[in-house]
Amino acid sequence: MGDNVEKRIIHLSSTDSTNAYLKDLARAGAKEGTVVFADRQTAGRGRLGRSFYSLDGGLYMSILLRPENGVFDALVITAAAAVAVSRAIESLCDKKCLIKWVNDIYIDRKKVCGILAEGALFPDGKLDFAVLGIGININDPKGGFPDEIKDIATSLFGCGKTPENFKENLLNAVFDEFLKLYENLSDRAFMNFYRERSFVIGKDIYYIKNGEKHFATAVDIDDSGRLLAEDENGIKTIDSGEVTVRINEDE
Ligand code: BTN
Repeated sequence: MGDNVEKRIIHLSSTDSTNAYLKDLARAGAKEGTVVFADRQTAGRGRLGRSFYSLDGGLYMSILLRPENGVFDALVITAAAAVAVSRAIESLCDKKCLIKWVNDIYIDRKKVCGILAEGALFPDGKLDFAVLGIGININDPKGGFPDEIKDIATSLFGCGKTPENFKENLLNAVFDEFLKLYENLSDRAFMNFYRERSFVIGKDIYYIKNGEKHFATAVDIDDSGRLLAEDENGIKTIDSGEVTVRINEDE
């Protein structure tokens, strides 16, 4: 985003998905830096076509990106967003964030945030725009998280150093931290933070690719956000958006 981009924030009480809503605005000509956030989503979307639990109690936000060079690297944008979200949360909360490759933020071994970066193409295949969606659980939902996710999801509840206007402060902190990285994305120094906060590196993992399970050890993450995984045949570079990584000890 250039220096003269204005942050334009649109607040909705409810929508199906802020990513979907912002894509419509983008097609109608909205500018880079437009941010949509909602208090709840009725059809929040996650990676690989999954749904993302988004009822009351969260920050569900999407940022419109129009990269000048027409290049959209979802892995790098997602990694930059993960670093930005971690720094933003830690600036406002007494909590330490860890990052699970490629798009999840964890606190106390439970997921507190998911990130979904999506590109939209022109018919000729060139990039039209991209939408960066971020969902952060701020409070536990009334009655708690649903059974399917109650053991793996958490919220920032009670951790705020400044409870007043917490959601708006968090949104602004995420945006500002992300902007710093996005303006100079070729400088990959932020990947050092990403690697330091990774709780995947050094762990036995398995990844599911094209429906098949592969066992390996995660040895590193490179500056392009690709996971390096070692098995008996050597080191493989995992960069596909179609890969799910699970850590064996979670089983
Ligand atoms: C994941 O965990 O797989 C990614 C979840 C991304 C959720 C955010 S919430 C705001 C934005 N709108 C959506 O529909 N999804 C993203």
